[in-house]
Amino acid sequence: MNRTVFVNGEYLPETEAKISIFDRGFLMADAVYEVTSVLDSKLIDFDGHALRLKRSLDELQMAEPCTKEELLEIHRKLVEKNGIEEGLVYLQVTRGSDGDRDFVFPPADTKPTLVLFTQNKPGLADSPAARKGAKVISIDDIRWGRRDIKTTQLLYPSLGKMMAKAAGCDDAWMIEDGHVTEGTSNNAYFVKGGKIVTRPLSNEILHGITRKAVLRMAAEAQMEVEERLFTIDEAKEADEAFTTSASAFVMPVIEIDGVQLGDGSPGPIAKRLREIYLDESRKAAI
Ligand code: PDD
Repeated sequence: MNRTVFVNGEYLPETEAKISIFDRGFLMADAVYEVTSVLDSKLIDFDGHALRLKRSLDELQMAEPCTKEELLEIHRKLVEKNGIEEGLVYLQVTRGSDGDRDFVFPPADTKPTLVLFTQNKPGLADSPAARKGAKVISIDDIRWGRRDIKTTQLLYPSLGKMMAKAAGCDDAWMIEDGHVTEGTSNNAYFVKGGKIVTRPLSNEILHGITRKAVLRMAAEAQMEVEERLFTIDEAKEADEAFTTSASAFVMPVIEIDGVQLGDGSPGPIAKRLREIYLDESRKAAI
């Protein structure tokens, strides 16, 4: 693969892109990121991702690397240069480097590092994984307390995904104080008696851009939604379950900790929401 990537103002072949070994993103995960999906070579919910990026940066007193308009242009150029029809644009901003390692932040005028690259994913929308549905396990949530900030501290979610794979499953849902927080890289939902239940927004979970859109679309389709804490046992007794994320849209969940949900195939509400989400998002894509 030889993608064109973006690093600090330059479009370069991926093999020529460089950042400093002292970059705080590399040394301390002092970095935030966004993942925006691409369908029909257009960006899904760019505004939502740009807004959340701004919030993550503000929460960490990190400088904005450029304007929203410039970000949009970079996203579009990378999609075009790499011929992406379906896939993802990954963006990362770090606090940069002043040429050494120190726990103290570098001077406020240190230039943030901005990196973007694309991931080509043909078949992202018409995904065999979504037709089959995902199997999840539950694990303890031992992440830090500001999961609303989209930082690159992804070691535990990565370990969680590996625990799921080792158990013959696809993903893990995390549990804190007896309640499900979210999936390793997605927000979590179950459906019982036609009602969609998901955890309310707080510092304990990422405020998913897909979550926001899907909850709005569910309400518009007259589906009942309840935002409240829930246990993994409630989810295991559900009629169906699903997750949402920019990288997998609405993903049906068919098994939790070895317990099959419904008839073990994707549920009707998850399937319908996936269709509505893809349809509406394609129309609104820019
Ligand atoms: N992950 N919760 C967590 C912990 C996540 O990492 C993500 C996204 C979500 C869903 O957010 P959104 O709908 O805005 O994608 C929820 C991205 C896709 C990733 O890390 O690749």
